[in-house]
Amino acid sequence: MDITSIGVVGAGQMGNGIAHVMALAGYEVLLNDINQDALDAAVARIDKNLERQVSREKVSAEDKAAAMSRISTTLELPALGRTDLVIEAATEREEIKHQIFDTLKPHLGPDTILTSNTSSISITRLASRTDRPERFMGFHFMNPVPVMQLVELIRGIATDEPTYQTCLGIVNKLEKTAASAEDFPAFIVNRILIPMINEACYTLYEGVGNVASIDNAMKLGANHPMGPLELADFIGLDTCLAIMNVLHDGLADTKYRPCPLLTKYVEAGWLGRKVKRGFYDYR
Ligand code: CAA
Repeated sequence: MDITSIGVVGAGQMGNGIAHVMALAGYEVLLNDINQDALDAAVARIDKNLERQVSREKVSAEDKAAAMSRISTTLELPALGRTDLVIEAATEREEIKHQIFDTLKPHLGPDTILTSNTSSISITRLASRTDRPERFMGFHFMNPVPVMQLVELIRGIATDEPTYQTCLGIVNKLEKTAASAEDFPAFIVNRILIPMINEACYTLYEGVGNVASIDNAMKLGANHPMGPLELADFIGLDTCLAIMNVLHDGLADTKYRPCPLLTKYVEAGWLGRKVKRGFYDYR
């Protein structure tokens, strides 16, 4: 299917990154959020991140201007029904995602493809409540979206081949690399990455090391670009906990039990960089 327009639901850190790369690749983007301030902040963030790419000569000033001109915003979710493909990138809570697809349902064209950027929730379950499980799949970007090369493509049990090939074509146009994952809790990247972060939380909780020593150990000892606790702050501790809970519930294995310290930080509202406090203090 020929895709020219993309609807993005959610203007947070993933949504603005997805809008950025899609617009730069030539797609018309309609970005939706429930909050005008979030939409304004997302457009400002995209402009800033594109400017950074211009200053590093990765993107020309003309391409930046063209990309910005392809991005429109709306507070009206039904408006996304006129796009060719929708990427849901809202909060990682299953009921919110179901509500978004329910609201969109009467406004969608017959061929519109629905996708979710969920980092862990079952694609088959999300698809089952829509009217088009065969044209539904997981389209999972990594943060920061403009920099990270990988996109996970996850087929639900009913996803058809043309839908998969259409999404693969978009990943190729973005000049990113697709990893095809089966629909099991947290897919590939987060099945491996988030338990590592959870283990770093246990390492702190049990006093094996402090925040700096744990992060330095993994940066210098395993060549990770960020230490696991710094990365947890970057992803969001609430997102990390939500993914651990999906693994724990979905795979019923105690090796996935969330670290009590991670739970405590989330209960305290210390969610990481986005609130300027997590394992590090950004105030
Ligand atoms: N937009 C555009 N460009 C950006 C950017 C953004 N938001 N953020 C960083 N960059 C660019 C910089 O301009 C810079 O470009 P050059 O190479 O051309 O100089 C490059 O990225 C590196 O950035 P910095 O020099 O500022 O900083 P850095 O070297 O410390 O790298 C980082 C920053 C790329 C974020 C790096 O620390 C990193 O790779 N961290 C790990 C990120 C990671 O693991 N992400 C996956 C998270 S898991 C996930 O997303 C899945 C999930 O569902 C939870």
